[in-house]
Amino acid sequence: MRKKIVAGNWKMNKTLDEAVALVSEVVNMISDEVTGDVDVVLCPPSIYLTTLKPYLEGQTRVALGAQNCHEKASGAYTGEVSAPMLKSIGVPYVILGHSERRQYFGETNAQLAEKVTSALANGLTPIFCCGESLEQRQTEVHLDFVRTQLTESLFHLSPEQFANIVIAYEPIWAIGTGLTATSEQAQEMHHILRQHLASHYGQEVADNTSILYGGSANEKNAAEIFARPDVDGGLIGGASLKSREFTNVVKARQ
Ligand code: G3P
Repeated sequence: MRKKIVAGNWKMNKTLDEAVALVSEVVNMISDEVTGDVDVVLCPPSIYLTTLKPYLEGQTRVALGAQNCHEKASGAYTGEVSAPMLKSIGVPYVILGHSERRQYFGETNAQLAEKVTSALANGLTPIFCCGESLEQRQTEVHLDFVRTQLTESLFHLSPEQFANIVIAYEPIWAIGTGLTATSEQAQEMHHILRQHLASHYGQEVADNTSILYGGSANEKNAAEIFARPDVDGGLIGGASLKSREFTNVVKARQ
């Protein structure tokens, strides 16, 4: 179902005390200030998920997500976290395929197809990331590159399985750079991705898929980007580490 979603990807940031403070502040600000129809997801480092879960009790708008999970259910994979583990602690969302995991940990489209399958099999909602590099955009291969990311990692899913997928388009050249995509660029890519989904799953499934924008989105530019018809929300990095700014981004989506 096509939802308005704003997710905060904290990446490798915050000590435990800082994480508790940030979650507490965000939950209180969202509860006091957000009345519109928008779902909020907080994605801290996985070691904090069980500790932070009690701070979300008693409200339904803010949920927790992990930043990754392994494609296997268990085994000799030192340092990894599996989808069954996330299910066992009641975490509903998981970011998969973030460009930093593709870059630093060599994640491939084929490996991500397995991760997506494992996440869905354990009742998680994947936030599947895609996006091109500056060189790919400059050489005008970005459309095929991003469409292939969806094809190779998602198109093995049935329409029923795919209904549980959230897409995040994150142009790599906009991540952490302060060089945000213009709202026109975001809308163009989101529309092209939605058309690609429609080519495989049909227009109804495509129209019901939430496609989030990520890449230097913040309280100053979020409203313009979110106003575009094919932008359903955001996956926020740096701006999610500050409670007031992240809440302002959420308010821009409601
Ligand atoms: O996953 C979201 C992240 O990649 C965007 O980071 O700091 O550019 O908002 P940032």
